[in-house]
Amino acid sequence: MGYKLSSKLPDVGTTIFTKMSKMANENNAINLSQGFPDFEVAPELVELVNYYMKKGVNQYAPMPGVPSLCSAIASMVDNTRNIKINSETEITITSGATEAIYNIITATIKKGDEVVLFDPAYDCYDPAIRLNGGVPVHIKLRQPDFSIDWNVVKQQINPRTRMIMINTPHNPSGTTLSQQDLTTLEHLIKDTEILVLSDEVYEHIIFNDLSHESVLNYPNLKKRSAAVYSFGKTFHATGWKMGYIIAPDWWTHEIRKVHQFVTFCANTSVQHALADFITSPKNYEYVPLFYQEKRDYFANLVKTSKFDLINCTGTYFQLMSYKNVDELNHLGDQQAAEKLTKEYGLASIPISVFYSDGQDDKLLRFCFAKGNETLKKAAKILCKI
Ligand SMILES: Cc1ncc(COP(=O)(O)O)c(C=O)c1O
Repeated sequence: MGYKLSSKLPDVGTTIFTKMSKMANENNAINLSQGFPDFEVAPELVELVNYYMKKGVNQYAPMPGVPSLCSAIASMVDNTRNIKINSETEITITSGATEAIYNIITATIKKGDEVVLFDPAYDCYDPAIRLNGGVPVHIKLRQPDFSIDWNVVKQQINPRTRMIMINTPHNPSGTTLSQQDLTTLEHLIKDTEILVLSDEVYEHIIFNDLSHESVLNYPNLKKRSAAVYSFGKTFHATGWKMGYIIAPDWWTHEIRKVHQFVTFCANTSVQHALADFITSPKNYEYVPLFYQEKRDYFANLVKTSKFDLINCTGTYFQLMSYKNVDELNHLGDQQAAEKLTKEYGLASIPISVFYSDGQDDKLLRFCFAKGNETLKKAAKILCKI
């Protein structure tokens, strides 16, 4: 007799990233779908990990994080944002931003609590809310610039609203929030008990000399926000799954209770290595320009194609509309992505999967965190269609 399980997430299947990467492999297609860089991690960082492993730093780390890494993060935040963070009580090291987000939501959201999030939204947000009995309230970003309509947010706020989730720079759109967005949010929740989860994993991947608008820079937001970061994005090491949370001490205290029983601690030797590595600002200060050059290189190569580029001010994703591409524009975005992979040899991600209602604006997401040769081949395909 077989066992039966009543699924807690009946509508969740294999993620689009797995699906498109598999399709790319099967069709020997260039893979600009999943968001991972194909450059090497800095040799110095690899050597540091190696050094600590060989030195025998291989057992459990302290639950909140290795103290030298927490201090190095506090110094980095001070250096980049001129903000003081208490490294002992306000920083928690996690196994990637995914664990960080899960911990924050689990520590905070109770049955019936509403959480506002913006579509298109990164895919781990909604399931984490629902697994905790929360109610995701999806608000659509405005088209075509993916901006937040704060009036709509205001209308949705009610006594059950417990949290608002923001993400800047934004995956999948490649857009960024402005100073005005953050001050509007600050003002909007001033007289409420609403908390903010701010996903800032692409904080260093921001262009055109824009400054990253972190919740940490707004004192009235900082005191009620948990900000999430990922070393994987900044140091081309997504597979290491290393991230961290910065949150006020009273919230950190609760978040750590969850972290304690989800993973207990993140990888010890990698934490020690990162502590040494981020002590040199040069190891992260080059990142914005490095990716801006990638963005411009790719954009320049595809400018003669029939695809229309959506303005990208951050992340390593370029959105393109295929509304003017005759070979594809009769198709929904999932079919278009499939055709592009199978018939033309280029894998991307359809944007409708990031909408809770599957809204389809005929947009595809291309990851440009790739070597120039790969980008050149991809652009050649796009220009041929
Ligand atoms: C917006 C956003 N948040 C969180 C994550 C998860 O980061 P990590 O790989 O560190 O878990 C990603 C990864 O793609 C992301 O794009």
